[in-house]
Amino acid sequence: MLSINARTRYCAVLGHPVRHSASPAMQNAGIAALAKDWRYLAYDVNPDELRQAIDGAKAMKFIGLNLTVPHKLLAVEMVDAIDPRAKKWGAVNTVVFETKVSGKWVPLGTVEGFEAGEVRSHGYNTDADAIVQSLLEDFSWTTLRGSSVLLLGAGGAARSCALRLAEEKVGTIYLINRTKEKAVQLGAEIAKENSKVNLKYEYQAATVDMVINGTSLGLKASDALPIDLDWLKARKPKRVYDMIYRPAETALLKEAKKIGCKTANGLGMLLYQGARALELWSGDKAPIKIMREALVREVQGV
Ligand SMILES: NC(=O)c1ccc[n+]([C@@H]2O[C@H](COP(=O)([O-])OP(=O)(O)OC[C@H]3O[C@@H](n4cnc5c(N)ncnc54)[C@H](OP(=O)(O)O)[C@@H]3O)[C@@H](O)[C@H]2O)c1
Repeated sequence: MLSINARTRYCAVLGHPVRHSASPAMQNAGIAALAKDWRYLAYDVNPDELRQAIDGAKAMKFIGLNLTVPHKLLAVEMVDAIDPRAKKWGAVNTVVFETKVSGKWVPLGTVEGFEAGEVRSHGYNTDADAIVQSLLEDFSWTTLRGSSVLLLGAGGAARSCALRLAEEKVGTIYLINRTKEKAVQLGAEIAKENSKVNLKYEYQAATVDMVINGTSLGLKASDALPIDLDWLKARKPKRVYDMIYRPAETALLKEAKKIGCKTANGLGMLLYQGARALELWSGDKAPIKIMREALVREVQGV
């Protein structure tokens, strides 16, 4: 990696808290592989100051930002322009700073030696496609079409996952959340756009192709299982995916493995959302292998 100098440009992840983030390790490895004189930093930003932080990064001509908990939903109203899909998912996890070249907005990261000119923030969501890519790859699946999925959670991550699964034309989604009203509200949003998806809010009698944990249960060793263990043992879904990647094997994944389910954690989701962000900033193809290795080293220490 080149040493920092007056031409070095910056990207960052903003979160609250942010110390746990694996994105700097992954993105700096990707940036170095692309031979960019950029650095990727991490900032703990209070939600009350998110707008100032985004505007500050814009004023300092950052290349781009990633946003993590709890900023993704808030940022929808704070960017100058928003990608239609980010608007649809209701969450922004990537900001691209852009300037005008020959009357067209282009990423600052693609403009060599940019020093002055109009800059805008453009919000994207790279999470939703990343989860689909990770599910297909981790379970060696060619299509999600027609499958039945039990989705636990209705927060930011589960929400974009559910809307994106509906786009993939899954057959049935069981939307299960501690606060049931949120699941029902999410179901209503899905039904508005994809009337063919079968939506259910109870799972005791269900048999499904895949369970996805999109709740935060499993982050701590003391957490309860996000699902009824008797149901899991009786119904033996073929695949169990946990969006959590640290710990690499949650209690849910351990139990699922014991009864013979294929399991995967959220590392692939994290990788692909980050890789797509780097592509949006740079206009280059992301070095996936290098970014994956850096991520695994950071998260699993191997
Ligand atoms: N791999 C990745 O790249 C990636 C990306 C984003 C998120 N994630 C992971 O996905 C999970 C959700 O993140 P998020 O951003 O969606 O968070 P969020 O918006 O805060 O949503 C949290 C979800 O967990 C549920 N929940 C929290 N505590 C619970 C409890 N004690 N019992 C039952 N349900 C509980 C919430 O239910 P209520 O609605 O009832 O509060 C809600 O559905 C986190 O573990 C996060 O680490 C992974």
